[in-house]
Amino acid sequence: MEDKSRFFSELIYALSLMMDLDENRKLFHAWRVGILAEKLAQKILPEYRAQIFYAGLLHDIGAISLPEHVVHYTDIKEHFANPILFSHPEKSAQIVRQISPLVIAADMIMDHHEQWDGSGYPRGLAGNNINLGGQILRICDTFDILARVRPPLSLDGMKTSLSARRGVEYSDLIYELMVTTLEEGDFFNEVMDEKKISEKVLNITKELPLIDNNPNRSQADDIIRVFAKVIDAKHSYTAGHSERVAEYTYMLAKALGLKEEEAKRLKVAGYLHDAGKVAVPKSILDKPGRLTLDEFKLMKRHPVYTMEIMSMVTLLKDLVVIAGGHHERYDGAGYPDGLSGEAIPFGARIMAVADAYDAMTSVRPYQSQRSFAEAKEVIEKNSGSQFDPKVAKAAAKALP
Ligand SMILES: [Fe+2]
Ligand SMILES: [Fe+2]
Ligand SMILES: [Fe+2]
Ligand SMILES: [Fe+2]
Repeated sequence: MEDKSRFFSELIYALSLMMDLDENRKLFHAWRVGILAEKLAQKILPEYRAQIFYAGLLHDIGAISLPEHVVHYTDIKEHFANPILFSHPEKSAQIVRQISPLVIAADMIMDHHEQWDGSGYPRGLAGNNINLGGQILRICDTFDILARVRPPLSLDGMKTSLSARRGVEYSDLIYELMVTTLEEGDFFNEVMDEKKISEKVLNITKELPLIDNNPNRSQADDIIRVFAKVIDAKHSYTAGHSERVAEYTYMLAKALGLKEEEAKRLKVAGYLHDAGKVAVPKSILDKPGRLTLDEFKLMKRHPVYTMEIMSMVTLLKDLVVIAGGHHERYDGAGYPDGLSGEAIPFGARIMAVADAYDAMTSVRPYQSQRSFAEAKEVIEKNSGSQFDPKVAKAAAKALP
């Protein structure tokens, strides 16, 4: 089945989209690096095309807990001074290693900030001690930073800027490889044009040899769990939140008589429900006091981003409205759509209880932590207003 064979690549694609959503716009950093790296690899590492493409998509995933997206830090001095930046290649590699078909990509990612002359990090490797995939990622990463210069560089301008860093950041060979590739047909203009990037990345996703030939549930589960960890890492207070919401959702679904398979699907929605939070600035997510109206407006966008991310994955399409509806209220006063009663998908009504229950029983900057018993009382008290009475009733027994 076409859907199933592409589940793996679509999940990685969605994960990379999540990393690159910056408030109201896409940054295209991961996608541009992926596209370029794959193209360069066709010439010198053809058997690892897929690995390097995924490495490009995920190389900065370990930087997710930075206050700003990684592309905003352009000076290598900042990289050495900031512990999150300094450790991000290692952190990214660690995360990607948890996705078993991507162990080779993880090694490439580990070296993506090493520099040819030994001035890079984290290990200060030099020359061909640097993983070749890592060397390719290095020049592609630099290309993307240069592609953000305004007014945009011409091909000649780009070549000059790239040439200035040869022998320092990357070898002559890698530089020549990049230049030859950029000069092929209209490739340079295509890769500079943000409008063409989404299309290009999707095409590569479809064309690439499958590296996950035998997709089984547990592999997809691995990636979904990685997703959850990355989502929770964005926020200082939410360690384990996505996983617990997934668990509570599953418990409630079972208690409400849903079939095992259906309950497991809802669990997946639980893991991913806050994916869109990655696009909300950390200063808002971690703000200790009340949010201003504008900040709250931005915060309220996160379910919409969640839907955008999840709709990239064919096999998750039926879960999009469920995950995206976890802040709807039974009385219609919720967001993002203000749906009420039965108009809210049942799965979303279940998730609303699971999400609130975990929020109440966790330490958060804006509230004092409640005990399980107290949280159940609050759910009971808000039955029929915030929560579906059926689900609220099930919570009393089904939740820990
Ligand atoms: Fe990086
Ligand atoms: Fe990067
Ligand atoms: Fe949420
Ligand atoms: Fe949540």
